[in-house]
Amino acid sequence: MKTPVDIAVTGAAGQISYSLLFHLASGELLGPDQPIVLRLLEIPPAMKQLQGVVMELNDCAFPLINKIIITDDPKVAFDNVDYAFLVGAKPRGPGMLRSDLLLDNAQIFITQGRALNEVASRKVKVLVTGNPANTNALIAINNAPDLAPECFTAMTMLDHKRAISQVAEKCGVLSRDVKNVAVWGNHSCTQYPDLHHAKVKGMDVLSLVEKSWFVDEFIPTVQYRGTEIIKVRGQSSAASAAHAAIEHMRVWVFGTDSGDWVSMAVASDGSYGVEEGLVYSFPVMVADGQIAIVKGLDLNEFSLARLRQNEVELKEERQAIKHLL
Ligand code: NAD
Ligand code: LMR
Repeated sequence: MKTPVDIAVTGAAGQISYSLLFHLASGELLGPDQPIVLRLLEIPPAMKQLQGVVMELNDCAFPLINKIIITDDPKVAFDNVDYAFLVGAKPRGPGMLRSDLLLDNAQIFITQGRALNEVASRKVKVLVTGNPANTNALIAINNAPDLAPECFTAMTMLDHKRAISQVAEKCGVLSRDVKNVAVWGNHSCTQYPDLHHAKVKGMDVLSLVEKSWFVDEFIPTVQYRGTEIIKVRGQSSAASAAHAAIEHMRVWVFGTDSGDWVSMAVASDGSYGVEEGLVYSFPVMVADGQIAIVKGLDLNEFSLARLRQNEVELKEERQAIKHLL
């Protein structure tokens, strides 16, 4: 057996974690020969509920679990961790925008950024899922000056998967036949799910679907899918979000498939004119644990306008929490 790896999950008693933890424990992230230590963070009022979740984890007798640590202290949760899933944050309810959560959730990412800075492995891979995810990641980066910004990402994998699923359904193919979808910008209703480079079985998706479907159906369906789930399910997405979180981290560890890419929100390096440092979703390729923004894609006026709109929105979010950076 390999040496155990420490994985932190925040918001461990919440609904996403109720799915995520069992996927992690069964080895879905790192494989069936990698033992893990789960370090679970919650706030004091949720500790009892977390104890219940741990009882259930124990009842599964997962062979890969070496230890489960529960705590309300971020420094204990992040101690020497290689992976951190920052899930803990308030979710939005019906009628709310994700940005309405900004001020409520910001403090969490200041505290956790500082704790990661102090105690996490210098090579930690951090995935921010809690909303508004891009700007929360920006806050964490700014509060972790000793960690490389490359240690931090925010989740747009769920949007990426939603886009693939919509294309597969429209084209009557399987999800695995759809490649090179891209989600640009913010994990908000402004996000730009882009099909200009997408392929189905090697054919350009935009040659297979009507332009009006792309513009008037596909884009808003993906943009508003989270809103729609809240309307229909009464609560924000959880199992699909947990799945996307595992997928995001798996790709980060094991890399993208040859010729394909995924979408991740990362600190911009100025690509496509997006201001450096903003946490912005790009199509990325990953190899050897290194995330590289896909460069040189041709973007038409339609796409560029949507990229700029996302940049403006993220700058507005940054402005709203400027005093916390
Ligand atoms: P939830 O309310 O069920 O769980 C959140 C948990 O976080 C709660 O148990 C709460 O006690 C805990 N928490 C709050 N503050 C904390 C802190 N300082 N430290 C540790 N834990 C803390 O919510 P959920 O449905 O699991 O969603 C979690 C977050 O993920 C929300 O912000 C939601 O909007 C977001 N989300 C993002 C995506 C995405 O694609 N990026 C998808 C789905 C949900
Ligand atoms: C989602 O996209 O499902 C999540 O961000 C939850 C939400 O608030 O929409």
